[in-house]
Amino acid sequence: MADLSPSLVKWSQSLQPLLKSLLPTRELHDTWRLRDGTAIRIRVARPADAPLLQALVRGLSLRSRYQRFFYPAHELSPEMLERFTQADPMQAITLLAVVWRDGEEKAVGMAQYVVVAAPDIAEYAVVVDDAWQRAGIARRLLQNLSCVARAAGVQRMDGDVLSENEAMRALLLGIGFEMGPHPDGAYLRRSWKRLTVSEGKCSELKEVVTERVRSVA
Ligand SMILES: CC(C)(COP(=O)(O)OP(=O)(O)OC[C@H]1O[C@@H](n2cnc3c(N)ncnc32)[C@H](O)[C@@H]1OP(=O)(O)O)[C@@H](O)C(=O)NCCC(=O)NCCS
Repeated sequence: MADLSPSLVKWSQSLQPLLKSLLPTRELHDTWRLRDGTAIRIRVARPADAPLLQALVRGLSLRSRYQRFFYPAHELSPEMLERFTQADPMQAITLLAVVWRDGEEKAVGMAQYVVVAAPDIAEYAVVVDDAWQRAGIARRLLQNLSCVARAAGVQRMDGDVLSENEAMRALLLGIGFEMGPHPDGAYLRRSWKRLTVSEGKCSELKEVVTERVRSVA
């Protein structure tokens, strides 16, 4: 800049906000293909995604709703929708697994954490659309979720699982969660995972944390 005239410098500086507003915001994601070739993308849910989350929950079987919410929730309440789409890694993050159908995104799974004892402990949960289960989607959602949570400073993720939920128990044990008794009774199990530094390095989705830190700086 040393050999530019002061007026030229001032003019180029005045253009910065305009240039910034024209640049596309890069969407962070983790994308892969299922064995049948279907592309699945995991990305952070934002407020505009509330209808996608609601459609996912409304489409679940009774059994999946019960296993996820412990009651046959018909849909997400406005409060839950707001919490799940706030996209603030220091408080709550929902990751959506989406596919494209007729030119539109459809959510086929979601996993979220909510920080319950800042910044160390978060509660997590996950659900996958019945038609998309057993394809590796929940495993990948939880791996990405652990990654973002660790990058946000979360040390441990906790979650409740129905004792009869063998699928979830097998999934959790396969990705390093521990499980023990629950104070509310034998029908529930408490699961938890201590997140390691290496977990916080696994996905580009962890950059949502860097973005958030930058935005409040
Ligand atoms: C539990 C749940 C999230 C699993 O999702 P998913 O996408 O089907 O799981 P994945 O395909 O990633 O499975 C990963 C591993 O979990 C285990 N698993 C998943 N489904 C299973 C089943 N029906 N029976 C036995 N093991 C199962 C397996 O070890 C599997 O690995 P493998 O396929 O290599 O054998 C899904 O069944 C679901 O949404 N259930 C209803 C909601 C719920 O129970 N949420 C948990 C409470 S928060």
